[in-house]
Amino acid sequence: MYQIKAKILFNEKIISGHYKMCLYAPGIAREAKPGQFVHIRIKDGYDPLLRRPFSIHRCEGEKIEILYKVVGRGTEFLSRKKTGNEIDTLGPLGQGFKISPDLKKIVLVAGGMGIAPLYFLAEKLNRENILILLGAESKGKILYLENLKNLNVKVQIATEDGSQGYKGLLSEFFFHLLKENSQIDLVCACGPIPMLKKIAQLSLKYKIPCQVSLEQRMGCGIGVCLGCTIKGKSSYLRVCSDGPVFQANQIRWKEER
Ligand SMILES: Cc1cc2nc3c(=O)[nH]c(=O)nc-3n(C[C@H](O)[C@H](O)[C@H](O)COP(=O)(O)OP(=O)(O)OC[C@H]3O[C@@H](n4cnc5c(N)ncnc54)[C@H](O)[C@@H]3O)c2cc1C
Ligand code: FES
Repeated sequence: MYQIKAKILFNEKIISGHYKMCLYAPGIAREAKPGQFVHIRIKDGYDPLLRRPFSIHRCEGEKIEILYKVVGRGTEFLSRKKTGNEIDTLGPLGQGFKISPDLKKIVLVAGGMGIAPLYFLAEKLNRENILILLGAESKGKILYLENLKNLNVKVQIATEDGSQGYKGLLSEFFFHLLKENSQIDLVCACGPIPMLKKIAQLSLKYKIPCQVSLEQRMGCGIGVCLGCTIKGKSSYLRVCSDGPVFQANQIRWKEER
């Protein structure tokens, strides 16, 4: 784990309210695994006090990228950072996806910003037989479709308004896929909690191993403050250090979420 002042190499808007930031962070880039995150101090001083967690979206050489959506004060400040600014960055943190080399068909389910860590995973796996299901509200909000075309993966889309691909929720689309396709070895999912819960339940029902990347408000990010705990099947789990990627059957979905 490194704590560095990372220089911003670019911070650009990709679609309305969504940005990609590239940081010079050689140690983090060298060690990062898909599903891990960086914990960023948005500003010097006390406001905002807490760091903000972001999945590592790509690593290239000595650089890392994050993909983020502006949802509040912290991400609003972040979007105004300029090339050349330095930003206090801690990482790589947490447990990433665990993928055994013998798995043949892997389905990655990305709801909205969920594509951030799953793109990194698809790029690293670099295998045939990876299917990415991308979900968004509408065609204009689909993230990263063009970039995914450069990877060796198949992509299918669901939009809630039907403006592209399947019309409806990504979890419904996933259900149709499961009914037609029994040969899935692993599902990896990232996105809003209600979607993850549904994907987890369906995967368990169809007896397909499933890993989910959870988002939770965080304090320290390193397993000390217990600010990010959720209920697991047999004990409490710290999202920052036991996760953020968990086996879907480790989590008490009904009670907790
Ligand atoms: C492991 C991890 C990886 C993440 N990766 C990404 C990523 O790649 N891209 C991205 O855009 N976001 C990601 N997030 C979420 C991101 O950390 C929050 O959106 C960010 O901290 C919000 O900060 P803010 O000050 O702008 O919003 P705030 O003003 O703090 O909150 C604004 C709204 O966002 C909600 N919110 C804040 N923090 C979180 C959180 N951690 N999880 C869920 N909802 C939250 C609040 O409930 C509130 O409704 C990740 C979160 C975790 C835990
Ligand atoms: S954020 Fe402190 S223990 Fe997870």
